[in-house]
Amino acid sequence: MERHAWDYAKFKTAFYLKTGLELDRYKDKQMERRIRQLMERENQPGFQHFYNYLAKNPPAMQFFLNYITINTSEFFRDQIVYAKLKEEVFPELLKNFDQKLAIWSAGCSFGAEPYTVSILFDTLKALDRVQIVGTDIDEKALQEAKRGKFHPRYLVKISPELLQQYFVKEGEYYCVKPKIRKSVTFKRHNLLCDTPLYGCHMILCRNVFIYFKAETQDFFLQRFSGALKAGGYLVIGSAEYISNPENYMLKKRFNTIYQKVTG
Ligand SMILES: C[S@@+](CC[C@H](N)C(=O)[O-])C[C@H]1O[C@@H](n2cnc3c(N)ncnc32)[C@H](O)[C@@H]1O
Repeated sequence: MERHAWDYAKFKTAFYLKTGLELDRYKDKQMERRIRQLMERENQPGFQHFYNYLAKNPPAMQFFLNYITINTSEFFRDQIVYAKLKEEVFPELLKNFDQKLAIWSAGCSFGAEPYTVSILFDTLKALDRVQIVGTDIDEKALQEAKRGKFHPRYLVKISPELLQQYFVKEGEYYCVKPKIRKSVTFKRHNLLCDTPLYGCHMILCRNVFIYFKAETQDFFLQRFSGALKAGGYLVIGSAEYISNPENYMLKKRFNTIYQKVTG
């Protein structure tokens, strides 16, 4: 046993000083449980020992960051939402704004979400009218996103026609065609502290809120509202909910699709 053993709070503080990532802003019980599970699996005797191990071992630190930022995603996740975007919301934005549409997929994981948006704009023959940026805190996920090569398990919800039209099979994997791959820019961005991408016509931040405490969700919503143009849209995950959208100048338009209104 470590003498004066660190508790989770001490681990979080040391981790923040080392990496700049505030574990404190994620839901505590869930995060602590996941970290304890990993420590047990790796036979780590306590938080201080585990911290020292991570601090001295960059690959282990990278693995740990990857482990705590849950990357679950897939193409056309929540088909009803994407159908609504394609049939109503994207055409409306294309009609209402003359300039290129700026679309930000915040917490994009390995890219399935921004690539789905890109495919939809292409089917609307409007790929040249959008600029799509995918951001995430997880470097490894972003590297995979840039590669654009996907295991079929991430493609179960895409129609056979779109699969055929937008992907090339390479062995067991599917590579997104260059036109789609090149239409999305990926960069690292920490939602907790980096400046938002301003002037967006749409922000998709889906299945990210659920990992954070209510006050952090509020902080994200304030920032997203500031980053959206009036008339622009915020799209959240199907298991997520905004209780007072008017506090952020948002109005619910469809299930998880909110529009920024003024006045
Ligand atoms: C479950 S995935 C969601 C992927 C995609 N948006 C979707 O719905 O399919 C959550 C993503 O949030 C990212 N994330 C967690 N904390 C973050 C932070 N502080 N800043 C930016 N991204 C973060 C994770 O790395 C992960 O890729």
